Amino acid sequence: MSKTNYLLINTQIALMDLPDQRYGGLIEDGAIAVQNDQIVWIGQSADVPAPFNTWRQHDLQGALVTPGLIDCHTHLVYGGNRANEFEMRLEGASYEEVARAGGGILSTVTATRAATVDQLVAMALPRLDALLAEGVTTIEIKSGYGLDLTSERNMLLAAKKLATLRPINIKTTFLGAHATPPEFKDRADDYIQHVANQMLPALAQEGLVDAVDGFCEGIAFSPDQMRVVFDAAQKLGLPVKLHAEQLSNLGGAAMAASCGALSADHLEYLDETGVKAMAKAGTVAVLLPGAFYTLRETQMPPIAHLRTHQVPIAVATDSNPGSSPLTSLLLTMNMAATLFRMTPDEALRGVTINAAKALGLADQTGSIAVGKRADLAVWDVKSPAELTYRIGFNSLKLSIFGGIIRD
Ligand code: NIG
Ligand code: FE
Repeated sequence: MSKTNYLLINTQIALMDLPDQRYGGLIEDGAIAVQNDQIVWIGQSADVPAPFNTWRQHDLQGALVTPGLIDCHTHLVYGGNRANEFEMRLEGASYEEVARAGGGILSTVTATRAATVDQLVAMALPRLDALLAEGVTTIEIKSGYGLDLTSERNMLLAAKKLATLRPINIKTTFLGAHATPPEFKDRADDYIQHVANQMLPALAQEGLVDAVDGFCEGIAFSPDQMRVVFDAAQKLGLPVKLHAEQLSNLGGAAMAASCGALSADHLEYLDETGVKAMAKAGTVAVLLPGAFYTLRETQMPPIAHLRTHQVPIAVATDSNPGSSPLTSLLLTMNMAATLFRMTPDEALRGVTINAAKALGLADQTGSIAVGKRADLAVWDVKSPAELTYRIGFNSLKLSIFGGIIRD
């Protein structure tokens, strides 16, 4: 099947578009008209008006159509892996102890610096393919394992190259402030200046940066240090986001919200004050149950406060070699439900419309609406809840990226 004008008929549609309806509005026996890369009509199969009723029809035999899934927080590009640290943690070491002993992020930095762009691409492709196989049509990829200009550039170039090799929309995020590299040992402030004044402007100038992120934590950078990087991002007109409140509460999410951040991510240790600051700024809460699970965290993110204050909640894999070696967004949805008690409706919003918001893409993708890009996933299930309910099962029938059908 191919592009141009066509009509999908005989489907159940989870629009994910209307805030106050289950699954953003459900249509039974629905139809969707696609012209080139856009959705141009949605309704019931019986009501398709001219000229759409003359277009080539694809009978989906009652399958469910959702927006193409969006993984809005990943570290998909990196060298090596950290299976050895997984073993260490199973023998009793904590994530922080491993990091302080020179393992953790810095061991991936060594492996990433040793790799060429092509090698980084080759290592990331199987991970990307695993996500594509589950109907993912947009993904965010962070740098942050290079920590010098050349290696950060290589990571971002690899991320951009992936988008030329597969039918997927990729947003790149500069995460130079992920950890202090060995060259700047005990000089974190100097490194932050280097990130803000040298690396970021150079990479932004090359068009490699869609957003700017940092790791705000006791083992990484303080809110004051992150603000230096955010000020530089704002001067360049780039949106910001932050890894915050993952292992402790430093007030990072509130600081990010005060800078108008697109999202604050992790958030297990976030308190209600931070939630209110996010609500006021429209900052999305990106929850990462894969990291919660891998680190055997017991502190739950403040779901009730997020709901009360109507902070949009997204869910993502956080795919990375240390705290979340996870490449299944469907399993992530199941973890969000089972570990965080999110509903299947919230989990699906978390990987569609709210994930689009976390990337600043909600006007283009993330829901099924006239005028949005035809990024769709078609599932062999009877109800949308099945996507979240199953564990380790992929019911994807086909996916559509920018109107192009892949089956
Ligand atoms: O999102 N929290 C910081 N960064 C990553 C983990 C990085 C790593 O352990 O390699 C995360 O969990
Ligand atoms: Fe992360």
